[in-house]
Amino acid sequence: MRLPTEVVMVSEMRTRHLVEGARTADGDRSETPVAHHGLTRRQLLFGGGGLAVGAGLGAGAGLGIGRASAPESAGAGPDDLATADAGFLRGAPVPATGTHQAGIDLPARPQARGLTSVWRLDPLHDGNAGDARDWLRTLLDTLGQRILTITAGAPTTINGRRFDPTDTVPDGPGDLTLTIGLGPDAVRTIGADLPGADALPRFDGDDRLDYAHLGGDLLVLAYAADAAVVAGATAALLGDLDGVRPLRSQAGYRAAGEAGIARNPLGYHDGVIVPHGDTELTENVWLPDGPAAGGTLCVVRQFRLDVTRFRALSAARRDAIIGRQRVSGAPLSGGQITDQGDMLARSQRGDYLIPNGSHMRAAHPAFTGSLLMLRRGYSYQNGATGRTSTARAGASRGAVLDDADDQGLLFTCFMRNLDTFTSTMLRMQGDSPNSVESTGTRDRLLTYAHAVASGSWLLPPGFDAGRPFCTSLFG
Ligand code: HEM
Repeated sequence: MRLPTEVVMVSEMRTRHLVEGARTADGDRSETPVAHHGLTRRQLLFGGGGLAVGAGLGAGAGLGIGRASAPESAGAGPDDLATADAGFLRGAPVPATGTHQAGIDLPARPQARGLTSVWRLDPLHDGNAGDARDWLRTLLDTLGQRILTITAGAPTTINGRRFDPTDTVPDGPGDLTLTIGLGPDAVRTIGADLPGADALPRFDGDDRLDYAHLGGDLLVLAYAADAAVVAGATAALLGDLDGVRPLRSQAGYRAAGEAGIARNPLGYHDGVIVPHGDTELTENVWLPDGPAAGGTLCVVRQFRLDVTRFRALSAARRDAIIGRQRVSGAPLSGGQITDQGDMLARSQRGDYLIPNGSHMRAAHPAFTGSLLMLRRGYSYQNGATGRTSTARAGASRGAVLDDADDQGLLFTCFMRNLDTFTSTMLRMQGDSPNSVESTGTRDRLLTYAHAVASGSWLLPPGFDAGRPFCTSLFG
């Protein structure tokens, strides 16, 4: 839709006003949004533009798994019901083969259960680079074949050895996806020029993370409707392999939702402003060329959230920290849940409707000039820790922990350039040159969140039986 000329002119005037950094009645310092590749500046700054997610979001949003397999006839017998139940639990199969690995943008509605695990590959650290490269090549080939076998749900022979996934996934894979990522050391073992060869910079709190919680050689994202399937499939994939040792793992869940949107542990809809459809995914997520074309880069940063302390705030304070209304999901600048926020909208007093210090404002790509990231996080709930203190060394600036309740977000995002994550995270911390920190505030959400694990990985392109996993990387 073309905008009338006067609206465009007003937009330009308002943008210029921002660029000049004028102060408003409440002392808000205006910011300088910069060019953005994925969306037009108008879309980014002025919000709206309802995104193409499922029409049924909100009222009547379903659990999202296996609805098609519910028995339709009133006269369904016990066998039909058993089949329907099993279908509900397992979900519809997701092809493991394709241009991209499964489990990134597909299935369109992320599965309800996840197990994110990170592994150390010992031979990469033994000092023999040539052997390590060959070993890694064989390992990745094996993993690719195992993924095809596990998601097919039947035993096979891989490199002369019988491989039987039905031992740990006895009822079939359902909608299981297994997605593999390579950490910086693994990427460099294959080729120093490949994307993902450089580790992320250290962010607030990272210096307190130990070896097992920062980085890691191999990432496995196992997602399915059934928690038993993700655990069994991860064990089948890696449990018996020499030189592969677990560093950390975290089970996660997604609340009921529609498309990629679900409430996170703070009670807010998460996953709204992400790339949708092939064009936006191509522009923002998939690596465009080179040996890793069709792959993507992934950051998993596990945030423990102080849900109790956040919930103790008034509803208005909580909304102001996020930038959206908790109940409806709409941006505080108005509109509906699927709308983007209007970063320039102000109240009659002149305050930004999406306030300085809110997460939406801090993370908005227009201010960093970054691409969009595909965010498909999983909530986690580990329950009571048994500790009584309310603060511990791991807390980043200002965070106070509720040790009775270890829960949070496995923030998981996919993008074609790690700088998208880095520039956003720095801005949230208040460390970006073009940051809300210039007004003395940073993302207030970080007062209630601190990182307990973090890393980045190259997710190699998709594969199939005739195009083994990672062959393009090895040339
Ligand atoms: C600490 C835990 C976090 C929580 C609970 C959280 C929650 C949310 C929520 C509720 C939204 C609004 C709805 C949406 O657009 O999805 C949002 C938006 C967003 N978040 Fe987060 N987030 C967290 C961490 C992060 C991190 C670490 C990043 C990146 C470094 C990030 C990047 C974004 C982006 C880019 C948006 C869209 C902003 C916009 O354009 O409106 N978030 N987040």
